[in-house]
Amino acid sequence: MNLFKKTGHLQGYLQEARKQGRSTGLVPTMGALHAGHLSLINQSKQQNSLTIATIFVNPAQFNDKKDFEKYPVTIEKDIELLVAAGCDALFWPTVEEIYPNGYTAPVHYELGYLETVLEGKYRPGHFQGVCRVMNRLLDIIQPGNLYMGQKDYQQCMIITRLIQLMGLEEKVNIRICPILREKDGLAMSSRNMRLNKEERAKAPALYETLIFLKQNICNGSLQDLKKEATDQLQKKGFKTDYVEIVNAKTLKPINEWDARTNILGLVAAYIDSVRLIDNMMLN
Ligand code: PAJ
Repeated sequence: MNLFKKTGHLQGYLQEARKQGRSTGLVPTMGALHAGHLSLINQSKQQNSLTIATIFVNPAQFNDKKDFEKYPVTIEKDIELLVAAGCDALFWPTVEEIYPNGYTAPVHYELGYLETVLEGKYRPGHFQGVCRVMNRLLDIIQPGNLYMGQKDYQQCMIITRLIQLMGLEEKVNIRICPILREKDGLAMSSRNMRLNKEERAKAPALYETLIFLKQNICNGSLQDLKKEATDQLQKKGFKTDYVEIVNAKTLKPINEWDARTNILGLVAAYIDSVRLIDNMMLN
């Protein structure tokens, strides 16, 4: 696997690859890789002749400084995993490389309603930061295919919007990949590494909440169901940011369901200081 720390070196490599007619799949990550990330690499390898992963813990997207400081870094193991997965290249830049002029200067992406709800509401500025780094990575790498996980459902919608804002709809296809879970249902996440044994044992409660919603969904009012699911999670010791049921296309909350609209359940909750998210299509 080729490892690049410098934008110029990576671009030279990509130019050569394009001359040879190779198609490029991009898998952006923040590292601390797990099987979920590797499933994106596998998907890209099946659909492209060149797969590039990026590892960059993006300071611009952390609304909580402590979360940034505690974000797990396991670069040596990550490299081993990427080599074993057959990834062609890794871009592992420094903050200066991505943000040569710093990242505090105001740049604003018109994300509209999408960034006012759910993660956008509870993590102010988060999606602006995600767009900032993704804008830069898309500019540098210019992939034909971009692989993102449904685990971050709202992020997928935000990046689809960013691609429109950048005028790249014709050039970049976003490929959304399914959520990989542990045997007990817990969605794989780099943040799971921060859970102690007791917390890890509790963590599947997010998945169980989504299953509870799925099993009890019926047309008519969903208010009581959402409230019951939230209460159950709170009783198990979680601090819940939200348990929500939304229109899967628009992310608008659904309180009365007509049994026709595609709906998605989403949950975000803290176990101690670790914030976890999960989601599931409910019909
Ligand atoms: P990160 O959390 O490292 O995730 C990188 C990619 O892996 C994202 O597209 C995410 O949705 C996907 N992913 C995470 N857990 C997954 C799972 N259990 N199953 C399948 N895919 C999973 O998301 C980010 O990084 C950043 O915000 C980033 C897009 C890299 C911008 O900084």
